[in-house]
Amino acid sequence: MHKWNRKHLLSIEELSREEILTVLQTAESFKDISLRPIKKSPVLRGKTIVLLFYEPSTRTSNSFSLAAKRLSADVVNISVNASSVQKGESLIDTAKNIEALKIHTIIIRHSRAGAPMILARHIDASVINAGDGYHEHPTQALLDMFTIKQRKGFFEGLKVTIVGDILHSRVARSNIWGLSKLGAEVTVCGPPTMIPVDIEAMGAKVSYNLKEAVADADVVNLLRVQFERESGVLFPSVREYAAMFSMDDEMEKYLKEDALIMHPGPINRGVEISSRMADGKRSVILEQVTNGLAVRMAVLYLISGEKEKTRKSSL
Ligand code: CP
Repeated sequence: MHKWNRKHLLSIEELSREEILTVLQTAESFKDISLRPIKKSPVLRGKTIVLLFYEPSTRTSNSFSLAAKRLSADVVNISVNASSVQKGESLIDTAKNIEALKIHTIIIRHSRAGAPMILARHIDASVINAGDGYHEHPTQALLDMFTIKQRKGFFEGLKVTIVGDILHSRVARSNIWGLSKLGAEVTVCGPPTMIPVDIEAMGAKVSYNLKEAVADADVVNLLRVQFERESGVLFPSVREYAAMFSMDDEMEKYLKEDALIMHPGPINRGVEISSRMADGKRSVILEQVTNGLAVRMAVLYLISGEKEKTRKSSL
């Protein structure tokens, strides 16, 4: 297995194909732990991991928190709304004060692209990007790739269509970088106002027609319409968006027999996906959440710099 020697996880763009595969392979071992009666490993005993979320989260924050606990780390959740951030403390001052408590890793979500990179330059602790503005959401892409690997078994030539608000989506950006590195063919689909002009330079094809974009797709990854990020002003009405870009019961007719339906969550039922499709047999949406735990355990373990032999003897 490729040796992992990164102190931080800041983006998928910076990872090599081998590093991505190392995370996916490590996650397979950690998924096995989740199936055992006693779901704990001691590999991060004595480490302290801090979650610093400046934006709301259900899946990422709880998944990281549980992953750290399963690896026997001490976990501190900083509630930004109840912290001195409300008194005007800067991001760097907040992080330096947390670091003064002798912690090992900060997992940060921030509305500004680049916030994790700035933090990594100013503190000695490891930094993990849990989503920064429109830029990247590396662990979401890793868990998406892990889910695809488990279901499909390969990436080379696999056709993945990502649908929705690509412009505002850190999930789309991280997935495009990662899937392209692994040899998948990525198509993005949505209204022209939601497709960034430079997206083809990242290796993705562009389609504005959902029926065509899903027709030969092995995987369809639907993105949430992010009303809090002004997605709502990029199309005339929610009804019109749903009529053209919702993965609904009518659109299912155009899918391949074995096409997977993915969504990073949270989902807007009736907007980007119908309830029947979200809960149907093709959907792996909750499986993505389950896999997120194993992938985040793998990321925490690799970042912690534990030696491979320690992992093998402790699992
Ligand atoms: N997919 C995702 O990032 O979900 P949360 O916002 O709930 O963390």
